[in-house]
Amino acid sequence: MSNIKTANTQFPVLDLIKKRWSPRSFSDKAIAEKDLLTILEAGSWAPSANNTQPWRHVYAFRGTEGFDKLWSTLAPGNQPWTRQAAVLVVSIGIKELPDTNQKNHYYLHDAGMFNSFMLLQAHSMGISGHLMAGFDKAKLAELLGLPATDETVSVIALGYPDAADKLQEPYKTREITPRTRKALEEFTYQLN
Ligand SMILES: Cc1cc2nc3c(=O)[nH]c(=O)nc-3n(C[C@H](O)[C@H](O)[C@H](O)COP(=O)(O)O)c2cc1C
Repeated sequence: MSNIKTANTQFPVLDLIKKRWSPRSFSDKAIAEKDLLTILEAGSWAPSANNTQPWRHVYAFRGTEGFDKLWSTLAPGNQPWTRQAAVLVVSIGIKELPDTNQKNHYYLHDAGMFNSFMLLQAHSMGISGHLMAGFDKAKLAELLGLPATDETVSVIALGYPDAADKLQEPYKTREITPRTRKALEEFTYQLN
């Protein structure tokens, strides 16, 4: 089934990828703990440089104090629609290679790989995810008591998607606007 958010691709891209998108309208339905853990485990099977897996994740379910604490660190533009998310997940990158005190130059890359796998697994289960960089990094690090070697990378809102009508503007319009991408020719180059 196609909808306004389905990617209009030039080539036969996987349906899972075409249909994933980042909604802001979430239903009341809770995410079962085992489903959340399935999603997180899927993320852990993403590749990472030297298999260092330089990530940690802190999550909280709606209706808990933990959720309210995480939510309080979100940017004003992200707070209205994330109130209704079923789960908030903080993605944390570990900046040092294990046991070496050496910089891991790929921690942000690898955290992003984790998140991609997580979002696709979630989508396959009917659960939508919406990544955010709009949050107070210092406040969140303090709240979680993170060591200096850890960095908060993103916060992800997860939930079962719901109708755009439930949202106020400007979020409502974003929910019904088609997704776009640069054309392949704009960013791919063949070297002969
Ligand atoms: C690192 C990152 C940070 C983002 N930050 C925010 C954010 O703070 N608020 C928001 O509404 N969306 C945020 N997004 C979502 C993007 O705007 C969204 O993925 C993009 O517009 C493409 O839309 P799609 O995911 O529906 O294809 C972020 C996405 C990424 C990957």
